[in-house]
Amino acid sequence: MDPVRFVDRQTELGLLEDLWSKGRGLGVVYGRRRIGKTRLLLQWINGKPSVYYQAGLYSHELNLQELAKAFEEYLSLEGFSKVKFSSLDVLLEHALRMWSDKLIVVIDEVTYWARSYPGIVSELQKFVDHILPKHQAILVLTGSIIGVVIRDLAGGGSPLFGRASLRVRLGELSPWCLPYFLPRYNSSELVETYSLVGGIPYYLVEWPDSLEPLKAYLRMFAPGGLLEDEPLMTLREEVRNPSPYLSIIKAVAEGRRSLGEVSSYTGLPLGHVSRYLSSLIQLGLVDYEPLVPRRRKRRLLMINDRLLKSCYSIVEPYRHILSSGEPGEIPRSLEAKYKNVIADGWERLASYHSLASLAKQVGITVSEAGRLLFKGDEVDYVIVDHDNRRILAVEAKWRSLTSRELRNIAREVKAKVHKVFPGYDVTVAIYTRAAHNTEHQDAIIVKPEDLPWKKDCP
Ligand SMILES: Nc1ncnc2c1ncn2[C@@H]1O[C@H](COP(=O)(O)OP(=O)(O)OP(=O)(O)O)[C@@H](O)[C@H]1O
Ligand SMILES: [Mg+2]
Repeated sequence: MDPVRFVDRQTELGLLEDLWSKGRGLGVVYGRRRIGKTRLLLQWINGKPSVYYQAGLYSHELNLQELAKAFEEYLSLEGFSKVKFSSLDVLLEHALRMWSDKLIVVIDEVTYWARSYPGIVSELQKFVDHILPKHQAILVLTGSIIGVVIRDLAGGGSPLFGRASLRVRLGELSPWCLPYFLPRYNSSELVETYSLVGGIPYYLVEWPDSLEPLKAYLRMFAPGGLLEDEPLMTLREEVRNPSPYLSIIKAVAEGRRSLGEVSSYTGLPLGHVSRYLSSLIQLGLVDYEPLVPRRRKRRLLMINDRLLKSCYSIVEPYRHILSSGEPGEIPRSLEAKYKNVIADGWERLASYHSLASLAKQVGITVSEAGRLLFKGDEVDYVIVDHDNRRILAVEAKWRSLTSRELRNIAREVKAKVHKVFPGYDVTVAIYTRAAHNTEHQDAIIVKPEDLPWKKDCP
């Protein structure tokens, strides 16, 4: 497949450019597997004097040797790779003395190097404290989330992370960028694909958009498919033993939404669940759903990562069918689960869009936002503006709605919101898969084709 043009990431590129203008310092870029760390850095260093090295799970000696080769290649430092360096700080100092001009050095996946040789962290520290300040050089390190913020670069009394003048955590691409990866899809198919894998560039790059989304998805998960072991690999990149983490994810995916429920479902003691959960939350894979009104005692867990959400709902229960090759006929019950995942993804897009754009369009400033849950009543998403006593209430339905249904939904939503916030002025937005009459007086109607695809993708 042709490489997709570089999209989004304007903020991150801007921060990296600032570091380049400063001309000296340590930068750390981290994020989930496949999120786009390498591509961002390659985009940034393009055209600048730089050395890029992707560390491996190799011995210290081998990593040093390969890094020296990278210096020799990128900067044409002849004979550099013939020198036997004993440590990383010595290698980098030697190179900077030879180069003596402005330079960027990127060590990608440094957490791999740290796994095989933990001593790398103190060598890096020595370099950052004593050698870097004397040169016009920028060192950028990347790694997994836990590796960077807890284990290797920030933990164990070696706060390299704290010394960084730039720390960038990469998140998912904006959903509005999906058409660049899936040019054959219409808006509904884009919604479906977003619901299945979110804005993670690697999954989008590899997505076969010549097939309809469900077929494409199942092909990626088929034996030998690109995503066959992806949940496991995602956790493996971060933690040594993924088993308790995957058990907790399965529990949440199956509707166990409190700590106690997860503990009894998995058989893990409450204290352990709490500890593993805080890592899963830090990884952005699981989270507590934002609720309105906010209550400290009632917190509900949810799967935050779209790939894990879809995988545990659609693939895991049907592994036995999928592992015998591509299913000829897709079981009805799988289709039903698929629809639930899409409906959930559509809700997610609705909350994202209403918070990022619609609220501003209707003049609402955000005081709090989340699912409205009150005495058995529920509204998918509300954005509350306490200062002006106004609310944008959002309901998302992944089906076609008639005028009458739209009117009824608008009325019901208003009534529910007024029970919690009497006297507030309520604007209702209904996100629907399709509607005949979109000129409605009771509610703002948003359909998949109304979303700012491409337009809001920088
Ligand atoms: N901003 C972007 N625009 C277009 N394509 C992108 C973007 N970011 C990443 N990609 C593409 O997505 C794929 C994965 O990106 P990349 O390899 O940079 O991720 P990574 O975080 O380094 O992953 P890994 O964890 O495997 O090292 C690549 O094919 C890359 O070209
Ligand atoms: Mg990478």
